[in-house]
Amino acid sequence: MSHFYLTTPIYYVNDKPHLGTAYSTINADVLARYHRLFGDTVKFLTGTDEHGQKVQQAAEKRGLTPQAHCDELSAAFQEVWRRLNIDYDIFFRTTAPFHKAAVQNILQELFAKGEIYPDTYEGWYCVSDETFYTEKELVNGKTPGGKDVTKVTEKNYFFRMSKYQKALIEHIEKNPGFIRPENRRNEVLGFLRQPLADLCISRPKARLSWGIEIPFDKDYVNYVWFDALLNYTNAVGLGQPARATEFKEWWSDGYVCHMLGKDILVHHAIYWPTMLMAMGVKLPDVIFAHGWVLNRDNEKMSKSKGSVMNTDEMVKFVGLDPLRYFLVREIHLGNDGPVAHELIASRVNSDLANNLGNLLSRTTNLIDKFFGGKAPASPTPNDDRVRRLIDRAVSTAPLVRSAIEDFQPSAAIDHVIQLLNDTNKFLEEKAPWKTAKTDLAGAGADLYIALEILRIAGGLLSPVMPEKMSALLATIGIDETRWSDLTTWGVIAKGAPVRKAEPLFPRIELPP
Ligand code: MSP
Repeated sequence: MSHFYLTTPIYYVNDKPHLGTAYSTINADVLARYHRLFGDTVKFLTGTDEHGQKVQQAAEKRGLTPQAHCDELSAAFQEVWRRLNIDYDIFFRTTAPFHKAAVQNILQELFAKGEIYPDTYEGWYCVSDETFYTEKELVNGKTPGGKDVTKVTEKNYFFRMSKYQKALIEHIEKNPGFIRPENRRNEVLGFLRQPLADLCISRPKARLSWGIEIPFDKDYVNYVWFDALLNYTNAVGLGQPARATEFKEWWSDGYVCHMLGKDILVHHAIYWPTMLMAMGVKLPDVIFAHGWVLNRDNEKMSKSKGSVMNTDEMVKFVGLDPLRYFLVREIHLGNDGPVAHELIASRVNSDLANNLGNLLSRTTNLIDKFFGGKAPASPTPNDDRVRRLIDRAVSTAPLVRSAIEDFQPSAAIDHVIQLLNDTNKFLEEKAPWKTAKTDLAGAGADLYIALEILRIAGGLLSPVMPEKMSALLATIGIDETRWSDLTTWGVIAKGAPVRKAEPLFPRIELPP
């Protein structure tokens, strides 16, 4: 996996980001940072989805042109991602002129090949979902999600999605890791048991003008999802002859992974692969659907329910890195999970303040006190217990790596936390604060073990908590971590400077 291309969904600019939308991006950022640490060549894309009725209406409401509205909101997304320390390589905007031109090339080509054809459409349209529903799909006259629909009859252009149904089923069956997790794969296969209809990919300008014009019929714009999904390929050069080499490297020969919420699985696991098949382009390697961040009533945190948490407020409450840690550690990727102040406080206090923070302050305080702030010597261990702990420490990195490659960041973190737990226990039993008075070298050897484990744990947790872990590593004299250092024992030299650590993770107190 040398070229790893990871994407988040591109977000609608009908609203500012909140903790629910940030969840996709933070998880993807953590995965991207891990892959960089493994030594993979990574491209991480996020961006904004700027066309369509939802956005047009949001702009109208504010009395702005759609473009002015998009520019403002897209900048707001970039600003929030900056504050959440999201290290993306590409911020994609669907209003970028090169994207519009590439989408039009692709539409023209598919039309010429007969993959797109005109027909009369009759159905139920939901503005908020930007999606058509058939009569059968409606529940009590509303979308399955309970939103309003309106009846529409009009000429439109259709993509021959049905033609690829069989090929798609075969691809999913042959590639068990294509749609993940497993339950989502089964859901998609279940959906594909029903005949697949062709996909309406145009909207009459009379009803909606904010979109990419259909090149072969000026009265229409492209359906927003068709244009939006193409961001993934266009960002790395599809439809742009001058970028053919880049496209081959990152898409055709690379490892492509889309992360998205389970609410947009059908768009990614059915529309998108069939579009790619029609274009004769390789399918992504993984489509990973994560679950939802839930509100107090155990429902999806969403603006329409008025239950969103603001990212700035949450950062203010707990700090940025602990917030990132909580989201990635507490909610197993793929499952839904509640977010509440008391849950955050309890997780952060136990794992970060008590476990990691305590080990760091104990170790650095004792090295300061008994060894003048210099790393003690590390004699060859002569006891089994110590040898086992060292073995464990150097074999944690491969466990973390395989958990990350398996999209289980929570399990990856847990390996590190368990190691830290055992190291705290080890120090408690060895009590170097007592033994230093009678056996300074022995106490030094014990502290050296804790120091090296802090170095390894700090490196292994840096993708989740980049700032805090670089502060931790700086106090123990490490300014750069290579992956190979994390499976190596004894990187810290005797006499290397060790500073007394400032408290990295103050305990979180809940307001009374
Ligand atoms: N614009 C489309 C995606 C196009 S991708 C080619 C879209 N945008 S969105 O802004 O509505 O949602 C983007 C992502 O945010 C989705 O993956 C969605 O699941 C995620 N989330 C929004 N609220 C969420 C939670 N409460 N919890 C977790 N993720 C949530 O759909």
